[in-house]
Amino acid sequence: MIMNETYLLSDGTSLPKIGFGTYNEAFEDNKDAILKAIECGYRFFDTASLYETERPLGAAIKESGIARSNVIIETKLWTDEMGADNARTALSKSLDRLGTDYLDIYMMHWPRQTGAEDENWKELDIETYQAMEEMVDKGLVRRLGLSNFLPHHLKNILDNCRIKPVVDQMELHPGYSQEAAVAFCKANDVLPMAWSPLGRGRENATIGNSILVRLAAKYGKSVQQINLRFLLQKGILPIPKASSMEHMKANLEVFDFELTSDDMSMLTCMPQTAWLGEHPDFVIPDRKSNPDNL
Ligand SMILES: NC(=O)c1ccc[n+]([C@@H]2O[C@H](COP(=O)([O-])OP(=O)(O)OC[C@H]3O[C@@H](n4cnc5c(N)ncnc54)[C@H](OP(=O)(O)O)[C@@H]3O)[C@@H](O)[C@H]2O)c1
Repeated sequence: MIMNETYLLSDGTSLPKIGFGTYNEAFEDNKDAILKAIECGYRFFDTASLYETERPLGAAIKESGIARSNVIIETKLWTDEMGADNARTALSKSLDRLGTDYLDIYMMHWPRQTGAEDENWKELDIETYQAMEEMVDKGLVRRLGLSNFLPHHLKNILDNCRIKPVVDQMELHPGYSQEAAVAFCKANDVLPMAWSPLGRGRENATIGNSILVRLAAKYGKSVQQINLRFLLQKGILPIPKASSMEHMKANLEVFDFELTSDDMSMLTCMPQTAWLGEHPDFVIPDRKSNPDNL
């Protein structure tokens, strides 16, 4: 089943309503997992220079035989790749690892390098973003995106950009729905995208959550499918990661039912207890030295 449902972006292009996350935590073999995802119908792939899945993603796309123009590749520059020169080097390394000569979407992974004590984040974000705009001018990148940008971070970019970001990727699921940030994105025609849309499988975001369990039984779906359906009905683009074909397929089977407005309200008002624990203005873990942190 090819993912044919799409979201329209502010630049007039579109994206499949569901993408595939490639953070490699539980993949036994990254290339094989991505090949399976392609076979299941995914055509939009999220990676990052941090994840070490750019190379296997590029290899899987080549091996699949799908034309480059029929897949969407999104990657991100890491916090130590911010700044104009670093960003240019980061892009050329990402293109090399992916084995492609352009990106469909290039993102800044976090708005601050180190969290709270990072006082010059506004200037650094603008410098980095302007370098990314030049990448678009050169045809190396098709569209720009942001990741983990809250309203004040996003406003800084919107006030200073030439080329508007089309998406903003944040942790979003019923147990951490970040209503204010999503509303700000929508008001500014930036599509919100959900990372860890399944709460990374944590119990309180899935099977340990009584509201999700009750709704799963009511609709004859899994708690993961309820999570994804909730995001879609909020106009958010989820990028679930899965290892098995069973999970990959199940995560696309979310267009044959609709949550009622009461159930959407119940999920929206759920206790916000399933946050992963990372916040751009406070906690940005040192992921490079601790691979358990993404
Ligand atoms: N921008 C950022 O800062 C940021 C941060 C985190 C993540 N991301 C992106 O977002 C993507 C998704 O987030 P994530 O990987 O953290 O977590 P996630 O997609 O919320 O959850 C993945 C977990 O859910 C399980 N799962 C998937 N489908 C399932 C199903 N149908 N039934 C039961 N279990 C299922 C997976 O198990 P199996 O693997 O066993 O299938 C895995 O343990 C990442 O891969 C990455 O691309 C971005």
